[in-house]
Order: sequence, then C-alpha cells, then structure tokens
Amino acid sequence: MSATQSSASSGLQTTSSASPMPLPSLAMSQEGFMQASRQRVNARLWAAIANEDGSAKLQDAMIHACADGGKRIRPLLAYASALAVGGTVEKADAAATAVELIHCYSLVHDDLPAMDDDDLRRGKPTVHKAFDEATAILVGDALQALAFELLCASNGVGSEQRLEMITCLATAAGARGMVGGQALDFEAVGEAQTLEQLEKMHSLKTGALIRAAVRLGGLSHEQCSAEALASLDEYAAKLGLAFQVRDDILDEISDTATLGKPQGSDSEANKPTYLSLLGLDAARAKAEDLAREATEALENFDEKAEPLRRLADYIVERLN
Ligand code: IPE
Ligand code: IPE
Ligand code: MG
Ligand code: MG
Ligand code: MG
Repeated sequence: MSATQSSASSGLQTTSSASPMPLPSLAMSQEGFMQASRQRVNARLWAAIANEDGSAKLQDAMIHACADGGKRIRPLLAYASALAVGGTVEKADAAATAVELIHCYSLVHDDLPAMDDDDLRRGKPTVHKAFDEATAILVGDALQALAFELLCASNGVGSEQRLEMITCLATAAGARGMVGGQALDFEAVGEAQTLEQLEKMHSLKTGALIRAAVRLGGLSHEQCSAEALASLDEYAAKLGLAFQVRDDILDEISDTATLGKPQGSDSEANKPTYLSLLGLDAARAKAEDLAREATEALENFDEKAEPLRRLADYIVERLN
C-alpha cells in the first residue's frame, strides 16, 4: 500500500482534502470539543508524518501506527488544559501532536514479540504483524524523534517556554517516565506486588505521559502561573492512575472487538493489575474516587476548565 493510499483510508486527513475543520472551543458541547480536537490532531499527525523523500514503507508503517481507532486522550488533555489556563488551541497544537506521537510509538514497541507480543491494536494488526519487526522498531524510533522535532519548532511559543516543554516531554518519555514504567512492568511479571509498587509502576508507565500532556497544554500558554501548573499536575496525577485502573478493568470485563486489542492479555501474561490486587468492585470504586479527586484539584479554575473536568468522567466511563 502506498503512502497516498494509506493516507486516504487512515483517518489521518490532510487539511486541504477535508471540509474546513472547526477549532475546538469552549462554546462546543463536550462531544463537539472531543470530535474537533481529534480531527485537528489527526490532520497534524498526517502533516508531520508525510515525508516525500524517505522510505515509503516506513512512512506507511508510521501512518498505520498513528491512524484509526486511537481515542486521542492525550491530545484532548493538552488542548483542554491549554484552554483551562486561558491559552489557545493553536499554541497547543505541537504539544498535542507530540505527546500522541510518543504514545503511538510506545504502543508499537509495547506490542512487539519481545514485549507484550500482541497481534491486535486499535482493531488492526499491530505494526510488526502488518509489516515486520524491524519496521516496527524503526517506526517507534522515528515517531519519537518526530515528536521532539515538532516541539522544537512549535510556532508562536517562545524559545524559553519551548525548552521547558521539550524537557517535560523528554522526562516523561524516558527512564524517569514511560520507559522506566515499562521496565518495572516487565520486572513485575509473576512477582507479588504491593499496591504501592503497582501505583509506582503505573504512575510511570501510563501516568507520566498523561501528566506531560496536561502540563504541556499549560506550558503552551506563556502566562500560565506556577500555581495553575501545580493544580494541573495534581489533576493529571490522579487522572493518570484513574486511566490505568480503567484500562485494567476493561482488560477483564470487555471484549476484544470493543477494545480493539486482545482482551485478557494482562492476566494471560500474569501481569499484576489493579484487579488482581483489589478485585473488580474495589477497582471500580478506586477509579471513581480518583476521577473525583482529579476534578477537585481544579476547584480554583473557572468554567474554562469544563472540558478538562468532563474528560475525567470520560476516562473512567469509557468502554474502550
Ligand atoms: C492504551 O492507551 C495503553 C495504555 C497506556 C494503557 P489508550 O487507551 O489511550 O490507547 P489508544 O490511543 O486509545 O489506542
Ligand atoms: C502499555 O501498557 C503502556 C505503554 C505502552 C507505555 P499496556 O501493555 O497495559 O497497554 P495495552 O493494554 O497493551 O494497551
Ligand atoms: Mg505492556
Ligand atoms: Mg500491552
Ligand atoms: Mg493494559
């Protein structure tokens, strides 16, 4: 499949071929805000990946990794966070796109045979199945580099602020963040875990990128205060855990078609999860408590934080 063919069916559209896209705004319903944000980041992802000069196979595989089926939770958080502090969607574009690129890369590597060895992602064959293992490794490498390329060039954001954004994403992506959490996840296979150890692992593996998404949105607005950033971080830390509790619940109660990834893969791989430690009812209660605590962290924000507040509910109610 050529890059052109795959772009047409990928859900990643060029801005020119699509009807004019509405700017995600506070005047929209939450559903409208989420739809407009997803469309916007899809267009940005496609524009970022398009590469006339390089390997067409690699480009197709990068599109495969980023297109279709992703909920785009991290870009939604980045946009909503920018609006919450009085910033703009335009200035948050690079942050929203960059954090989704890092997330997509993490999924491609997470699914590799040496890692979770999964064949299905977002309702499609994983990248190493649709292409091959070497390509999947390179896709991850390329998406990661691309994320930082975008942040370096983020238009409209001053260079000092950009440096802070780059540092934020680099820390969240690496050994002190997502990759560190993935390492702890693998070290924990088959081992008895305390709830504290599990939370530490999840706060890195999943939480770090979610926190980065929210912080990057705030940082994209140069006037964002340190107090606002601290409240955003408290919101995001709770939300990141809530997100992972829900991921663990869905792995148990949902089905492969709805999830778009193999149901039951955590228990099959003997992974410690919130369910294995707490049981289903306590895990559900924990997710709801965390989502409530997340919104409580925003109590000093005005109505501009509504999309962010509603995303907390979405994250613990989602079905996939
Ligand atoms: C799945 O993340 C992987 C975890 C971090 C648990 P998402 O549930 O956000 O995946 P997509 O992007 O919607 O496919
Ligand atoms: C993956 O966690 C998280 C990252 C990719 C960093 P999981 O292995 O639980 O994610 P799923 O369940 O495969 O989406
Ligand atoms: Mg995994
Ligand atoms: Mg996995
Ligand atoms: Mg999981």
